[in-house]
Amino acid sequence: MPDEHNGKALEITGLSHYFGTGELRNQILFEIDLTIEPGELVIMTGPSGCGKTTLLTLIGSLRHVQEGSLRVLGRELAGLSDAKLVEVRRNIGFIFQTHNLFESLTALQNVRMALELKDANPARIHKRAEEALIDVGLKERVGYKPKGLSGGQRQRVAIARALVNKPKLILADEPTAALDANSTELVMDLMKQRAKQEGTTILIVTHDIKILSLADRIVSMADGRIKSNTLTTETIRVCMFISKCPAFASLKPEELANVAGKLVLERFAAGSTVIRQGDEGDKFYIINQGTVDVLRDAGSGNRKIATMQEGDFFGEIALLEDKPRNATIVAVDDLEVYTLDKKSFRDAIDSTASFKEQLLKVFYQRR
Ligand SMILES: Nc1ncnc2c1ncn2[C@@H]1O[C@H](COP(=O)(O)OP(=O)(O)OP(=O)(O)O)[C@@H](O)[C@H]1O
Ligand SMILES: [Mg+2]
Repeated sequence: MPDEHNGKALEITGLSHYFGTGELRNQILFEIDLTIEPGELVIMTGPSGCGKTTLLTLIGSLRHVQEGSLRVLGRELAGLSDAKLVEVRRNIGFIFQTHNLFESLTALQNVRMALELKDANPARIHKRAEEALIDVGLKERVGYKPKGLSGGQRQRVAIARALVNKPKLILADEPTAALDANSTELVMDLMKQRAKQEGTTILIVTHDIKILSLADRIVSMADGRIKSNTLTTETIRVCMFISKCPAFASLKPEELANVAGKLVLERFAAGSTVIRQGDEGDKFYIINQGTVDVLRDAGSGNRKIATMQEGDFFGEIALLEDKPRNATIVAVDDLEVYTLDKKSFRDAIDSTASFKEQLLKVFYQRR
């Protein structure tokens, strides 16, 4: 590995990928751009078949780059020979959906195999392999072969094997799918620790909402494209918050993360007008903090028709119907709202039948 690079762990630009040839040639990835810093723990989500594993195997130098640029740990993979790709692979730890343990070897021997490629000292290898298994909670199982282990235990052996060489980059495809809550926590803590203490870059594909909160960044994919890429402590908080709002209640985690990534926090002083009846609608609002009065003028001046508070939302009717605002909204006290611009709101509705359904329900109740 050359040392001189711009410091990015991963730098992808304009990456496209196709399966099949001739008439059956099918584009799977569409001009992916993605940059990941060293030491980041990134979680990738997205519906089944959207191309997550394909992207992961390209990054892992398990496939040849067809179009675009892919720099892993500073090295351009496009155009590399098979032999060079193997070299790159040695710096990457893989935890894949199918764990590929050797059935005839014990847990310890499986982990040792990874070390034997790099180290020639048997005592040291033994000690490190054992420690790696202890780290994933398998102290009592080091001498077992895969068939004597549960699915979750096998997965943990695979994780120990991926971590034992202290790779600079770890790629994991649904690593916690076979694990119970305790093992998931154990394994994720271990990964988080590696990322923070040793600057290991970790990219995890998962649908497991429980581990989302550990990510530094969430990337969501759909139809071979990256739909959103957000830094997350805030995203998680926003996801948790908007998931309580009836309009968003039925969104799947990746859809929630997608919407959350596009929300903007806005503040209004007590007494100020947030939207005015008759104006054109340009945004959707969710109240994060504070209360508002809903006023309607039916020809004889403003009349208060409702009060709304934290978690309530407004502004959807003008956007759904393309009509002027049908009420005025005034902040009662200092107000904090999340807003979603008209285009993102429309995109979210178009991409999600459940979102539309929930909104229409509320919409007809309010008319
Ligand atoms: N070797 C292959 N040959 C042809 N098509 C493939 C091949 N591998 C994957 N595909 C197709 O590419 C698309 C993306 O597959 P991929 O495995 O990357 O999806 P994924 O996002 O990982 O899905 P999942 O969440 O179900 O694991 C799918 O439509 C799949 O059928
Ligand atoms: Mg997959």
